[in-house]
Amino acid sequence: MPEGWEWDRTLFQGSAAHYGRGRLPYAPGFPDALAEALGLDGRGGLLDVGCGPGTVLLPMARFFTEAVGVDPDEDMLAEAERQAGHRGVTNARWVAARAEDLPAGLGEFRVVVFAQSFHWMDRDRVAATALDMLEPGGALVHVSDLKDSPPEPAPPPALGPPYDRIADLVRRYLGPVRRAGQGVLVNGTPGGEELVIERAGFEDFARLVVPAGDVVTRTTDDIVAWTFSRSDSAPHLFGDRLADFERDLRALLEETAPDHRFAERLPATEIRTWRKPLP
Ligand SMILES: C[S@@+](CC[C@H](N)C(=O)[O-])C[C@H]1O[C@@H](n2cnc3c(N)ncnc32)[C@H](O)[C@@H]1O
Repeated sequence: MPEGWEWDRTLFQGSAAHYGRGRLPYAPGFPDALAEALGLDGRGGLLDVGCGPGTVLLPMARFFTEAVGVDPDEDMLAEAERQAGHRGVTNARWVAARAEDLPAGLGEFRVVVFAQSFHWMDRDRVAATALDMLEPGGALVHVSDLKDSPPEPAPPPALGPPYDRIADLVRRYLGPVRRAGQGVLVNGTPGGEELVIERAGFEDFARLVVPAGDVVTRTTDDIVAWTFSRSDSAPHLFGDRLADFERDLRALLEETAPDHRFAERLPATEIRTWRKPLP
């Protein structure tokens, strides 16, 4: 859990509708790469904890008999269910709960995934629960954008989104300390998940980096959606100044790129896996 911060259900309030459009996708090859790395054979269960709109669960579901997405944000789950319908994913179900409420009678799984969600949880407790919910030899999987390589510059003449200026604007509206739900994150979110996961009893650590690298064009609307998809600039935080903020954000983006087009390189995806020991 971030130090000095308490979880509340407004963390991503209003973000779900913006998530699919605003966030850059994980590397396109990640589902096959992960399936191969784990030796998935279409059997067993997948549990995706903090699944959001199903970003990881939906492309992974075909490698399992059943896939269960857990998230406390009902709007995220509604979006996930809608996306499952569009993509014809029929073996998924969605459970509104916090990770801390597991196991919640959900049964045993072959794989438990945390994709950019573990840092919001009571990590020691949740890692211990994940160990209990896995079958022997099952895998805990942590998915994130690769952060330790600097983003490649977008090729000229296209411009990248002005992320520093967006952050300045957010600070002007919401104050200097990063917001998260009703609280603030003085020291950001915690890292060092390897330690937490290993002290819960997991072993056989492996790291897989799935390259991406394509340059994609993003519009002003995409970058507005990206801003509202984040916990630190989720719509609820702006209260009755939401329309003013969006107007200022759009003006800033238009000033940077009057043609409303930005170029961005897709980040690589970092996948870290651990196994539950065999008896
Ligand atoms: C950054 S989003 C990631 C969504 C998705 N996994 C992805 O990779 O795109 C974080 C998600 O974690 C969920 N979350 C936050 N705290 C949680 C908790 N304590 N238990 C379960 N999910 C949580 C949020 O509701 C949100 O949907």
